[in-house]
Amino acid sequence: MSHVHIIEEVKKRGKMIDGLTDQLLPIAQPEELYLASRHLIEAGGKRLRPAMLILATEAVGGNVQKVLPAAFSIELIHNFTLIHDDIMDQDILRRGCPTVHIKWGLPAAILAGDTLYSKAVEILAGVDAPPSRIIRCLNILSSTCTEICEGQWMDMVFEGLPKVSEAEYMKMVEKKTGVLFAAATSIGGILGGCNEDEAKALWEIGRITGIAFQIRDDVLDLITPEERLGKERGSDLMEGKKTLIRIHALKKGVKLDHIKRGSSDEEIEAAVQALRDAGSIDYAMKKARKLVAQGKAKLDMLPDSKAKILLKELADYLVMRTY
Ligand code: IPE
Ligand code: IPE
Ligand code: MG
Ligand code: MG
Ligand code: MG
Repeated sequence: MSHVHIIEEVKKRGKMIDGLTDQLLPIAQPEELYLASRHLIEAGGKRLRPAMLILATEAVGGNVQKVLPAAFSIELIHNFTLIHDDIMDQDILRRGCPTVHIKWGLPAAILAGDTLYSKAVEILAGVDAPPSRIIRCLNILSSTCTEICEGQWMDMVFEGLPKVSEAEYMKMVEKKTGVLFAAATSIGGILGGCNEDEAKALWEIGRITGIAFQIRDDVLDLITPEERLGKERGSDLMEGKKTLIRIHALKKGVKLDHIKRGSSDEEIEAAVQALRDAGSIDYAMKKARKLVAQGKAKLDMLPDSKAKILLKELADYLVMRTY
């Protein structure tokens, strides 16, 4: 199936929030702080989370124009986590550009991330919606950020462990990635005026498909060339990340511990081939597809709409994407 259609639909909504950058995140003083904060946003990105937030609003019949700042705010949170994640993962490339800590240094990158975090809260607090809905969304956003930190901490600790179980991996990716998708879909619904059951279902579709999205991200780290991915290929292997693929491979006796920062492209390629041969990549993709099916099923309780169909298409795209 071609994904051209859903990619265009996502882009359309991505452009809506890009148009808010100068208004909601203007270049103030000290200028370099704001340039560093805006660096990744201007470098690109797929805008999947804001698109999901907007689609959730559409799916419950809410006012899209009014939720655009909330969608922008979710993208800011995402970019905040990316800046800090690249420090943690020692990555030098993101969205095809040098990472913030490479361009501005570590202390500046920490502050740039913090700025995006606090701006996101400020912007969400200012959305034109009933105060009770806004408070609820602020609560969701804050607890989501706490969970992302928990997940990122687990991710970091797992690097140093000889063995991590599949259940531990699932918990970790739910926290580091799944909950932000869940926050996007549920905030979109809540601001759009959905009922309790719909809010729950929207949370679940985001959470489950967000986990699937991260599994696909782990696969792409192995199989996608740097020019397309915009990130360094094999970074997870070099960092010793306990991805689902690596957990499966470990059980099959595949040796990966020799891959380190500075390993050659040939060594990475050989390791990826070993993962393919062990069926580890197929195993992860099968799991991701199963999760997407589960996530999509959660949408059945929403009234039929074009947005509901698009959310289903987007769920499929999350695990079929090539970058
Ligand atoms: C990358 O997310 C970070 C993860 C949670 C895996 P995306 O793949 O959505 O990154 P951009 O926003 O398109 O650059
Ligand atoms: C990112 O996971 C999760 C968060 C940013 C919270 P990764 O570390 O796999 O993301 P990439 O591959 O660097 O984009
Ligand atoms: Mg990373
Ligand atoms: Mg990481
Ligand atoms: Mg990754």
